[in-house]
Amino acid sequence: MTAVLARAPAKVNVHLAVGPLRSDGFHELRTVYLAVSLFDTVTVRHGEGLELSVTGEGAGAGRGADRVPTDRRNLVWRAAELLAAAAGITADATIEIAKSIPAAAGLAGGSADAAAALVALDALWRTGAGREDLVALAAQLGSDVPFSLLGGVALGTGRGEQLTPVLSRTRRHWVLGIAGEGLSTPDVYGELDRLRAAGKVPDGRVLAAAEPVVAALRGGPTASLAASLSNDLQAPALALRPELARALRAATEAGAAAALVSGSGPTVAALAEDEQQAVRLAAELAGAGVFRTVRAVHGPVPGARLVG
Ligand code: C5P
Repeated sequence: MTAVLARAPAKVNVHLAVGPLRSDGFHELRTVYLAVSLFDTVTVRHGEGLELSVTGEGAGAGRGADRVPTDRRNLVWRAAELLAAAAGITADATIEIAKSIPAAAGLAGGSADAAAALVALDALWRTGAGREDLVALAAQLGSDVPFSLLGGVALGTGRGEQLTPVLSRTRRHWVLGIAGEGLSTPDVYGELDRLRAAGKVPDGRVLAAAEPVVAALRGGPTASLAASLSNDLQAPALALRPELARALRAATEAGAAAALVSGSGPTVAALAEDEQQAVRLAAELAGAGVFRTVRAVHGPVPGARLVG
């Protein structure tokens, strides 16, 4: 039976400036996304109705936000329904998600799955949708889904879905420190609102400029990139998960040029000087006892695309 495979990458926000809460429940963002070499693969086949299965990270037992559902609650299910509706066909497909990107980790794993599903189902169903049509559908699915389609490096504004590609030819090496338990994105944004209301962090009316990190990504020493990394969601993630402070310290003590929380966390992204150092750093952090698992990755990498 014909199978179509697509894969999509995880992301790290190397800059994440969060504005005040908007009336639609989202926050205005100025973010710089970097796609990194940790991929989920989605395989689709013709079927009757929708059938979804998940293997790898987040599959099977568990109860928290890191448990990946296999029904309508899964973004892939909604992606399939949305694409089918746009194409005027019924959503008939068997879909397998093979996950390497942990869920509820601040790495846009669910968004990667949705983006890969759009690309794979578009090919399986021959909907004839253009890349722009898929991007428009992606924006309806979630703030990070357009970037999961695009990949590379991009400036994100609006709620993160409005993208401007950024030229970046320099491959950077990172170690992702993945926690045992995920964090819910709305919880982290909610905690940021609480910290702001209490005057404990800046109110977000002035969004930090992205230019320094964009310039550092174009080239130049790792130290410049290290100095320009920032994430407004780090403070609320730390407030909800105090042990993250130890994890961030462990990364810098092990020699990372810098370490920050990825997106809404709790993954720690540790910047390495080069590939050799990333491998050493990964080995040291794997033994530090502060992460469930670690992954050495590089970026930028392309967005969702067909494989095989
Ligand atoms: O867009 P997405 O479904 O991924 O967003 C998940 C949740 O994260 C939203 O419901 C909202 O609580 C929060 N969010 C936000 N501002 C953004 C993006 C997400 O408040 N720009």
